[in-house]
Amino acid sequence: APGGLVDRYGRRATDMRLSLTDKCNLRCTYCMPAEGLEWLAKQAVMTAEEIVRIVRIGVEHLGVRELRLTGGEPLVRHDLVDIIAALRSNHPDLPISMTTNAVGLARKAAALKEAGLTRINVSLDSLHEETFTQLTRRPFLNQVLDGVDAAWAAGLGPVKLNAVLMRGINDSEAPSLLAWALDRGYELRFIEQMPLDADHGWTRRNMITAAEIRGILSTDFFLSPDPRERDGAPAERFEVRRRVAGPGASSDPSAHGPVLGTVGIIASVTEPFCADCRRTRITAEGKIMSCLFSREEYDLLGLLRSGADDDALAQRWQDAMWIKPKAHGMDHVGLDAPDFVQPDRSMSAIGG
Ligand code: GTP
Ligand code: 5AD
Ligand code: SF4
Repeated sequence: APGGLVDRYGRRATDMRLSLTDKCNLRCTYCMPAEGLEWLAKQAVMTAEEIVRIVRIGVEHLGVRELRLTGGEPLVRHDLVDIIAALRSNHPDLPISMTTNAVGLARKAAALKEAGLTRINVSLDSLHEETFTQLTRRPFLNQVLDGVDAAWAAGLGPVKLNAVLMRGINDSEAPSLLAWALDRGYELRFIEQMPLDADHGWTRRNMITAAEIRGILSTDFFLSPDPRERDGAPAERFEVRRRVAGPGASSDPSAHGPVLGTVGIIASVTEPFCADCRRTRITAEGKIMSCLFSREEYDLLGLLRSGADDDALAQRWQDAMWIKPKAHGMDHVGLDAPDFVQPDRSMSAIGG
């Protein structure tokens, strides 16, 4: 299958995101309802062997150059370490990262590193026990903090942290969260909430925008564009300095403190990066999603289970990616723009 995973608009997907499970042990309000979702039946979810085969097809036939394991929560898969070890033995040089909520990570970090995991990103929205519990509906903050430190100690860094800001809940905590991350050398990214929650509670008015986030941070910090190439990444990065107050000190970076580290802002809604998107996604049930917001799902696992060969599987994957939507359209708010319709699946069911 020459040509790789290209679409009608000339984009090429080289970054594969594979969901290991739809299950999760947290109930973040921007993702899942309090009672959880109806989990997939065990036999509907890809087995370790099927995952290994699909990744191999992506890498060997379709030009995949980076793999990220997602969920739900990937750590709830009992065979996670074995899956990573098998992937690593097939692909010695493939970057394999994982996005996790870090619950239970402290116990597993060393084994994950040993198996061949490259690095992790951790969702962390608050450092206050009450706020964390309100947002995730589970009292696991300390486990998460231990998990982050254990991952760093195990060599799974650089550690990136993801924080979704929710109005009136954790938005005012943004500066202290950033100070905490800078102190420890973790790269914090603030994320605009997307309409991917199972409760369909997202509203444009309630979302904290990237512009607001920059405003909230600028009371304490001075942000200047990170000179490194953005390179298709969802996060726009800034170098962070402590703001020195006083007249004349505002716009010249060197008038402020030394660079303490970087912060990222993922403005999926208000400053979309769809034109540079390099992602292809496989859900836990083996469906190809060309985009978080695509309406078509192509069943790769069903085809695999029917006995299809590598070429047929690669072809289906290419067909699915060819019709990748140009953009999600959430940022279109003009009078003649079609209303944005929230997808049926939540973030946890798509794979974060
Ligand atoms: P890095 O390689 O470490 O930069 O990973 P990443 O930022 O791509 O991965 P991560 O799983 O940490 O995702 C961070 C956030 O980016 C997610 O929480 C989403 O909000 C957003 N994101 C990830 N993939 C997509 C995508 O395909 N489209 C959009 N709009 N946002 C995405
Ligand atoms: N909008 C933006 N980001 C979300 N995540 C989960 N749900 C949403 C949403 N509705 C993020 C989590 C996690 C990543 C996998 O996706 O914070 O870091
Ligand atoms: Fe779980 Fe991630 Fe969804 Fe939170 S955002 S409920 S950690 S899948």
